[in-house]
Amino acid sequence: MGDVFTADVLTAEEVAAARAVTPGCASGLIHLNHAGSSLPPQVVLDAQIGHLEAEATLGGYEAAALALDRRHAVYASIARMIGAEPNEIARTEHATAAWNTAFWSVPMSPGQRIVVHDHEYGANIVAFLAAAERRGVLIDRVPCDRFGQVDVDAVADRLARHDVALVSLTHVPTNGGLVNPAAEVGALTRAAGVPFLLDACQSVGQRRIDVDEIGCDLLSATGRKYLRGPRGTGFLYARSSLLDRLVPSQPDHHGANLVAGDRFEWIAGARRFEYWEHSVASWLGLGAAVDHALSCGVERIEATVTSRAEQLRSMLVDAGFTVYDEGLERCGIVTTATAAEPSARLQARLAEHRINATTTAPDSSRWDVERRNLPVLLRLSVHVTTTDDELSATLEVLTRGR
Ligand SMILES: Cc1ncc(COP(=O)(O)O)c(C=O)c1O
Repeated sequence: MGDVFTADVLTAEEVAAARAVTPGCASGLIHLNHAGSSLPPQVVLDAQIGHLEAEATLGGYEAAALALDRRHAVYASIARMIGAEPNEIARTEHATAAWNTAFWSVPMSPGQRIVVHDHEYGANIVAFLAAAERRGVLIDRVPCDRFGQVDVDAVADRLARHDVALVSLTHVPTNGGLVNPAAEVGALTRAAGVPFLLDACQSVGQRRIDVDEIGCDLLSATGRKYLRGPRGTGFLYARSSLLDRLVPSQPDHHGANLVAGDRFEWIAGARRFEYWEHSVASWLGLGAAVDHALSCGVERIEATVTSRAEQLRSMLVDAGFTVYDEGLERCGIVTTATAAEPSARLQARLAEHRINATTTAPDSSRWDVERRNLPVLLRLSVHVTTTDDELSATLEVLTRGR
């Protein structure tokens, strides 16, 4: 079932305004790598640089103390964006750190199954394999349905067997434009009382996300992609009602209080998953990025990004390219290839014209690559700052010299 779009796509004037506050848009660069690392708006730089200057002139601890309210406000902003409570958010360095923190905190017994899907990110696959080795769990890969998305009936079937430790799903795969029906999976895990971990690394910032509507218990995200925050930032959402069933796997004395020399107690809320030391400047930059997205309206970002990506897909198909994105619902990631020229060459030719794109790395989504027998694809990812002119210029380079 797809979302019904009620939000308006940004007008040309609004896109121009979004570009005007994005330094990377001023230099003639065409950035179609928002799924890799997006272009931050000026407010993100200001938050980071302002804090770095405070650290340099006041001292790192003193600057952090002065920024206490702003640091706390970041949790509230993230919580507002995903329909959570501030004490359900933990700061992490990136999405994999958040995902691993969540995954390894879920109790699993030998013989229990972890229900997973082919769109999992490479790092998650490594963790599944490691858990099978260390914990004796069985990896149960549910198939895709005829649209290429997770087969929800197959998830229901697995949950009916009552031996599932965790359901894991990647909301938007790294190398494909589809959006998995996370809320349908969440309805099932909720009814079964099984923890549901959602990898929302590629969806946060470009899709409206409400953790209660989705029904996930754990959600991992990164700052630098569609959120347009700094590199080296991320967060974990952990549902408060699940906290007592989770065991943080590598705590420090920030996540736990050393109440005696031989005893610790977890601190309240999701911050038990955090480490004490972190880049305060980057965390504040992430907060600025979230506030920026909220001020634009995540629904409108979703509508704009989705429509821009569909426009690009049509242009590619019209130009004879194959588009590889599956799913009933699609997002801002567009994957394509042509028999006429290897994707790496296409990427290099785009780079010569200052157009940023990436090619897919098989290790990043190995199960999906094997299932679909995918060649290396050109990945073009759009955002609200992407214009018609940029897409036309990109197509012109791609089709030139054939
Ligand atoms: C779906 C997905 N999950 C997780 C990650 C890992 O994110 P990070 O590099 O922030 O750890 C990525 C990165 O591309 C991704 O695409």
